[in-house]
Amino acid sequence: MPQGISQHLFLPKGRGIGLKDGKLDKEPFRKVLPVLAAKVAPEKAGVLLKSSVMKRSLLDVPRVKSVARGPNDERLVLLKYSDQADLTPEVQDFLQTQSAELVSHDIVFDYDYWTADEIIHAILPEEIESGAPSGFATVGHLAHLNLRPEYLPYKYVIGQVILDKSPTCRTVINKLDNIANQFRVFRMELLAGEPDYVVTQSENGCQFTFDFREVYWNSRLHTEHERIIANFKTEDVVADVFAGVGPFAIPAAKKGCAVLANDLNPSSYKYLTQNIAENKVDSLVRPSCEDGRAFIRSAFNRAYDDSLPPVPPRKPSKAEVKERRAEGQAPPPPPGPTRQRVDHFVMNLPDTAILFLDAFRGVLSPANAGERDLSGLYAEGSMPMIHCHCFTRELEPEKAEVDIRQRVEEKIGQGLGEEATFHWVRSVAPQKEMYCVSFRLPHAAAFASP
Ligand SMILES: C[S@@+](CC[C@H](N)C(=O)[O-])C[C@H]1O[C@@H](n2cnc3c(N)ncnc32)[C@H](O)[C@@H]1O
Repeated sequence: MPQGISQHLFLPKGRGIGLKDGKLDKEPFRKVLPVLAAKVAPEKAGVLLKSSVMKRSLLDVPRVKSVARGPNDERLVLLKYSDQADLTPEVQDFLQTQSAELVSHDIVFDYDYWTADEIIHAILPEEIESGAPSGFATVGHLAHLNLRPEYLPYKYVIGQVILDKSPTCRTVINKLDNIANQFRVFRMELLAGEPDYVVTQSENGCQFTFDFREVYWNSRLHTEHERIIANFKTEDVVADVFAGVGPFAIPAAKKGCAVLANDLNPSSYKYLTQNIAENKVDSLVRPSCEDGRAFIRSAFNRAYDDSLPPVPPRKPSKAEVKERRAEGQAPPPPPGPTRQRVDHFVMNLPDTAILFLDAFRGVLSPANAGERDLSGLYAEGSMPMIHCHCFTRELEPEKAEVDIRQRVEEKIGQGLGEEATFHWVRSVAPQKEMYCVSFRLPHAAAFASP
């Protein structure tokens, strides 16, 4: 049996199609395929589409409707052949019984039809076509690419195709360097669309707005944010040492936690503050803009001196209010006590977070706590948990654990014990694995004299 027209339906790869003076020319992507169509009265179209005899002869091309309208409002049920001789006798007999007339119909496939991948592969020259950039990450309305040098001559065209083909995308950029600076931001160039870098991205039920040129954001960390937040109990107090624009702090507050959220980057702080307000968690999150080390040294004292608000009472539904009234029940209990102790530290600055751990040494001793007696709040066995992100070159989990444990213990000045967990987060580059080590702050380290 002949294969039908779909065998002709592809764009040749690696031919430099659609490039004119270095710009995108959409015309060469137009392709016209003549097919046979069974012209029937509107009420007959469904009969043909459902018929088991017709099944293998109907047009089956992605993103193309199998029925078109004729000039007098008849229906054209499209077939996958262009030559009547390719139709089986059963199909021809069936069409006759349905009074269907066979006509020729042109299907037009143009620039709008092809996927971004198909177009990019057609545009690029043969030598570099096979490794063409296929995926890109998005943040809000912005798509970001990391083009290898050989694709740079085609960067604007690639950007334009991505813009045209992504309905929610308004801006396409290319990263210009790897992030190695203190605030983990990278330089970028506009490839296509509007020069608008202030994006709004949702994650874990919260909205985050920020200028992508000025702050750190990585949508790939979404599950890691969620995993860490799942560790927090509603009544916990969380101190986020490297908070960015709030992807740990704000969802944690949404679940009832009180949060001290800190970031040294003034722009992160600005958007963190804005996001706290926009997500309506102002009463539960206290933002600050200071060095992580100073923040760690002061977090315990701040929570003690200016205790954090209690877990907000859950707003009862209208039905619950009605039910309580009907049953003559007392109003819901008042909120619990304010919160004075920190239960978790989050430290997501994988490149150097471990180096900040020595700030915990003696943090609860009189040398740092002054006259406050924090020993009742922080007893052995109920010390805060520290979730510290880091990189390791070790690929095997056992070796990674040994490496990370040794570096953490050296900084904190105590053994971590068997309770510590080592969670693999993702591979960042060859020989660069991201982990999160979670451990209880050793009592002896926190109360150690200087
Ligand atoms: C890898 S980002 C993580 C941001 C956020 N927690 C997240 O998960 O998306 C690290 C953050 O640490 C901030 N940072 C870098 N050095 C710092 C320091 N010495 N003290 C406090 N924050 C710092 C950066 O500005 C950046 O926002």
